[in-house]
Amino acid sequence: MKKILITGGAGFIGSHVVRLFVNKYPETLIVNLDKLTYAGNLANLSDVENKPNYEFIKADITDGEFILKLFADRQFDGVIHLAAESHVDRSISNPLEFVVTNVVGTVNLLNAARNIWKDKPEGKRFYHVSTDEVYGSLGDEGFFTEETRYDPHSPYSASKASSDHFVRAYHDTYGLPVVISNCSNNYGSFQFPEKLIPLFIHNIRNNKPLPVYGKGENVRDWLWVEDHARAIDVIFHQGSSGETYNIGGHNEWKNIDLIRLMCSIMDRKLGRETGTSEKLITYVKDRAGHDLRYAIDSSKLQRELGWTPSLQFEEGLEKTVDWYLQNEEWLKNVTSGDYQKYYEEQYTKR
Ligand code: NAD
Ligand code: DAU
Repeated sequence: MKKILITGGAGFIGSHVVRLFVNKYPETLIVNLDKLTYAGNLANLSDVENKPNYEFIKADITDGEFILKLFADRQFDGVIHLAAESHVDRSISNPLEFVVTNVVGTVNLLNAARNIWKDKPEGKRFYHVSTDEVYGSLGDEGFFTEETRYDPHSPYSASKASSDHFVRAYHDTYGLPVVISNCSNNYGSFQFPEKLIPLFIHNIRNNKPLPVYGKGENVRDWLWVEDHARAIDVIFHQGSSGETYNIGGHNEWKNIDLIRLMCSIMDRKLGRETGTSEKLITYVKDRAGHDLRYAIDSSKLQRELGWTPSLQFEEGLEKTVDWYLQNEEWLKNVTSGDYQKYYEEQYTKR
């Protein structure tokens, strides 16, 4: 049986990738390796956990010895690497954790893949999942292409940029068969509620303030998480070795406009008078080094591999709001413990 290792499969995007691969490739063993940090939650995968082609390993990618031995024992045919510290605000409070997980963790995986594939790299693939934040910030015009110069501003994006460079270096130096994608902001089910969309749905539902950073004028390019998972499938199977592919939805929203749209959807869903939830909007101190605008040009992926986003944003946002409203138990479970501590520290300072 072919074996694919997916790291970070208990997180937001990883769980959608694991679900897609387990269901679509029943003849392939999908091994999900995750440390289960505050962001990792096996409840995200309860619908596939008993499938015969799924296996979970609780492990830390920063443990180089363990990773090396695991690869030697299991002889994976492919790796899809999503495990990371992923929240910009947390990287501002604790940059070193991002260096250790995102850079050292990635290099451990590269070493282990190199070790087992060095004599026979044909048919193997190391797929590194990265972010558009490595390209920095745009002004009012233009898009990030695969040729855009790296210019990261936060400790998070600097750590992801560094890991991208290591992945390319292992391709150029050792001939490791790698592929990289850089994607824009994802939204959808199972996203940890410290990121904008699930956090604000949660706060609107509970009549809590909506902390808008700065003037709310920053622009993000939002993509339905299941479209990202489909893009990863296409790139993993058809992308060319050594290449980079940008993934995005051509769907730019100024934060404040997106927040107003969420408020109006929530008013309707909760049977509140129009305008009620907007009153929760509270402008707070801006994020340090806050990138103004991200926008992805994904024409290479569309042209070369035929991927296109499937869902219009308004429809996707409605579906997302419905999911969080219908899964209050999931939300309740993940908003206890570590998250509550983080939330108090993060927002009492502002
Ligand atoms: P997430 O924070 O929801 O999940 C990260 C997962 O990695 C968690 O399950 C966590 O337990 C696991 N993990 C963290 N440290 C680990 C370690 N040391 N060893 C093993 N597992 C560990 O993140 P996400 O939003 O799903 O992002 C997944 C990947 O996609 C990341 O690499 C991120 O940089 C990238 N990305 C995210 C977005 C986005 O909008 N969320 C967009 C583009 C790219
Ligand atoms: O662009 C891809 C990136 O998107 C991924 O690489 C990251 O892993 C992912 O977290 C996301 O980063 P952002 O910083 O763009 O996402 P976040 O949800 O934290 O913030 C979205 C925007 O909303 C950003 O401009 C900051 C703003 N914001 C966020 C929070 C949490 C607020 O105004 N208030 C908030 O409370």
